[in-house]
Amino acid sequence: MIINGKIQSEKLRKQIKKELLEICKTTKDVPKLSVILIGDYLPSQMYVSNKEKKAKEVGIKSEVIRYPETISEKEILDKIKSLNKDSEVTGILVQLPLPKQISQKKIINTIDPKKDVDGFNPLNVGNLASGYEGIVPCTPLGCIKLIKSVEENLTGLHAVIIGRSNLNGKPMAQLLLKENCTVTILHSKSRDIKNECKRADILVAAVGIANLVQSDWVKKDCIVIDVGINKLGDQIVGDVKFDDVKSKVKAITPVPGGVGPMTIACLLSNTLECFKAR
Ligand code: GUN
Repeated sequence: MIINGKIQSEKLRKQIKKELLEICKTTKDVPKLSVILIGDYLPSQMYVSNKEKKAKEVGIKSEVIRYPETISEKEILDKIKSLNKDSEVTGILVQLPLPKQISQKKIINTIDPKKDVDGFNPLNVGNLASGYEGIVPCTPLGCIKLIKSVEENLTGLHAVIIGRSNLNGKPMAQLLLKENCTVTILHSKSRDIKNECKRADILVAAVGIANLVQSDWVKKDCIVIDVGINKLGDQIVGDVKFDDVKSKVKAITPVPGGVGPMTIACLLSNTLECFKAR
């Protein structure tokens, strides 16, 4: 089975639009997402224009604030502080990666946790790790929704994650733990990665190595979620060798058309949640 991220994300976006229409009957306010985009890195430009388009479609106001690559850290921090104070702004997202002169840690720490639609602020990270309510990073949240579209009850399943980043691997592990999975995180220093993957009932590849996972890395009936977006020649491929793996496993997400659209839908869902909480 191929998990269709486009269809799943469309369902979620429809729900968001409906809920927002309902809320907006009683409030004059509408949610607003402010995105800061620094430099002209093409993938970031593409993600951001997609986010903007999809936000508008569900009725979320969206603004993109663009800066040149050479902008100072202070100017960005001042902008975030003014967006924090702006009562019209529901959500703030600073598109990563950042230029060298800007500290990711300082940026993330400056965003008001209540407007942190990425869920990267340490308060939200801590809430997730403690099993408390909070904003959950969009990509792992989207992955869980895709996994649950195949298998509702994940209790006792062995989930293996390749990658330990703050954006994907670590929050993914927390969400799978919350679903009562047994979780293994693999990374560049892990031993015997292939055999560890073979034990997985759920395999999440979020490492950024094109076509790393091949059919002899997965067991039959595994659910495979491919978070990778890698350029290979003029093609975009995931971390999983899709054509090789698809016929062996229970379910798999394609790249593109799998996790990517769900990430954006979850960003909109997080923006709606911030709006409701306010
Ligand atoms: N760059 C790539 N993915 C993401 C994301 O989920 N959030 C932000 N802010 N930047 C990204």
